[in-house]
Amino acid sequence: MWNSQHQGGLAAEKGEGPFPGIYMNYASTSPRQSVGLTQALIHYLEQNQHLNVGRNVEGLEDGRIQFRARNALARFLGAPGTSQVIFTSGITLSLNMVLLGLLKPGDHVLTTHVEHHAVSRPLRRLQRQGVIDVDLLPCAADGSFDPAVIGKHVRSNTRLLVMTHGSNVLGTILPVAESCAQAKACGLFTVVDTAQTAGSLAITLDAHTDVLAFTGHKGLRALQGIGGFVLSTEAAQQLEPWITGGTGSASGSFEQPQFLPDKFESGTPNTLGILSLAVAVEELLAQDLSRIREQEVQVTARFLEGAKQIKGLKVHGTGKADLSAPVVSVSSPTHDSGVLARRLYEEYGILTRCGLHCAPLAHQCAGTFPAGTLRLSFGPETSCQDIDRALYALETLLRS
Ligand SMILES: Cc1ncc(COP(=O)(O)O)c(C=O)c1O
Repeated sequence: MWNSQHQGGLAAEKGEGPFPGIYMNYASTSPRQSVGLTQALIHYLEQNQHLNVGRNVEGLEDGRIQFRARNALARFLGAPGTSQVIFTSGITLSLNMVLLGLLKPGDHVLTTHVEHHAVSRPLRRLQRQGVIDVDLLPCAADGSFDPAVIGKHVRSNTRLLVMTHGSNVLGTILPVAESCAQAKACGLFTVVDTAQTAGSLAITLDAHTDVLAFTGHKGLRALQGIGGFVLSTEAAQQLEPWITGGTGSASGSFEQPQFLPDKFESGTPNTLGILSLAVAVEELLAQDLSRIREQEVQVTARFLEGAKQIKGLKVHGTGKADLSAPVVSVSSPTHDSGVLARRLYEEYGILTRCGLHCAPLAHQCAGTFPAGTLRLSFGPETSCQDIDRALYALETLLRS
């Protein structure tokens, strides 16, 4: 079905950008930043003195950069103000800070059966230490989740619902707004992991959502190693700071400041990362997110349609692009996903990812544990031609 005109995709043919072949691992990280962002970073490195905010008599420019990023993120993620935007290295640190800063001995936590280790490992550790009890709310084999189950699992000591907006294995989008509304009606604290959706699906703090954790290096298209969380004013009061230390403020006291953002930001900030977030999010604010989403759905739908027709290839997830992030897992009973990923790369220049993708729970759901899957994930640079080449390559490899 996929004829030889779809062959290739090697460096010389694609010939642009930092990755010379066809990049299909956007769920892991975005491979390139905008020209405007790169220029802003170079300008910062060349022109500025990199003076730490609050630790110098100067340092104004770094302070401006922080404010600019907080301002853009507050608008983008619906934070009540710039102080409710907290910078961390990414979602993993954000979720550790929130879970460990919130949960107390005896608390019960609800989470879903498709979570990334950024959620499941901190929870597992607290559970193993006997601090908390955790219920995994069921998801269907395609990763879909029915918020109606939340109420059935709430106990008198249930404190928190923490869940992802989009599965990084199956692509499935979870109904976070409805889920947080149900959880809030039961008095729970609510936390959402936006790793796979921020930058293409609108998601904002609302009356039912206490914390949104975000990362820079995926859909927001900033640098790696920067991210954070936004939180409501009430949530900020409930959370203890999990990391304490120098903030450049209230230095006469040995206690961590209680005002935001200092309560949750100690140590020297990653100003270059924060600048990348400022520029990237400003660029997103200037765009129509629905256009980004439209392109994602278009290429994902094209891939799904073709993949379903390839003999011997099983497509996991909902199989519907409009219900998914641009992430598709496939597997074959006859071909190991690791071998397929290696051959796609070596013979066709197509970079994908194989294995469990730090989310064994999702594979338990889909019935792909422990073998894992081959995951192809798409982004703004993915063209229909790239999709056709990937389909051709997969079909050819499965025939061999
Ligand atoms: C669903 C999900 N949550 C969390 C993370 C971790 O994000 P970070 O790299 O910002 O720690 C990832 C990264 O792949 C992810 O896909």
